[in-house]
Amino acid sequence: PFAKELLGLSEMEKKIRDTYGLRKVVVVPGDCEAAETAKRELGRAGARALLEVIGENDVVAVTGGSTLAVMAEQLTPPSAPIKGSWFVPARGGLGESLEIQANTIASGMAKRVGAEYRLLHVPDLLGREAYESLVHDHNIQEIVSLIRKARIVVHGIGDAMEMARRRKLDAEMVEELARDGAIAESFGYYFNEQGSVVHKMLTLGLRLEDIKSTETIIGIAGGRSKAQAIHAVLKFGQEDILITDEAAAEEIIKAL
Ligand code: F6P
Repeated sequence: PFAKELLGLSEMEKKIRDTYGLRKVVVVPGDCEAAETAKRELGRAGARALLEVIGENDVVAVTGGSTLAVMAEQLTPPSAPIKGSWFVPARGGLGESLEIQANTIASGMAKRVGAEYRLLHVPDLLGREAYESLVHDHNIQEIVSLIRKARIVVHGIGDAMEMARRRKLDAEMVEELARDGAIAESFGYYFNEQGSVVHKMLTLGLRLEDIKSTETIIGIAGGRSKAQAIHAVLKFGQEDILITDEAAAEEIIKAL
């Protein structure tokens, strides 16, 4: 409440933007964990931010998650369809429910804005053997090279332990993550409080080096309990645009 009295939403935006050298920060009112309406606002702000940066012949890679799913619902068709652009999932399926998988979100967003889409039909958690055989498949190579060319990446951010649970990682892996101090998860990578990657998974899809060379990275996540995770990803330092809510922003600013 202290930070709230002190800072209005636009001051919060400016504070986070300046601290992390971001291009743009949007803070929507409320706590999207506490209210559906706040989550919808978050989604709408994300949709608006994407429409501001997307152009013709663009490639947009999107992750999964409930926040991205709400954002997809909030995308309104632009006055003219976005010609020659593609939406692709950033990674394979994560074993989550269909509605919040990256493939579903990529196709849903593409349809809403009149763009094309390509899907990646592989599980996200691959063993070495499966990886080796899939990586040589011609169709997979084609979509993977499209994913790695993405000019825009839109991604969710989650609490590391919560995501480990959602992905049903085995107990040994969860313990390892905890030991390594993982507190955030994004793009399939786990980050510690300092924003360093402490764990990666073998993936067909966006890799760290692709993320580092992407022109526009849009992170969208809100809710007080995600503040630490969002903060860690900000410290990782690749974000260009952050869409968050008041509850998370308050905690992030307190910790500055
Ligand atoms: O699993 C995809 C993903 O974007 C994760 O990288 C992220 O941690 C999570 O979803 C966020 O999910 P939600 O928006 O449901 O909290």
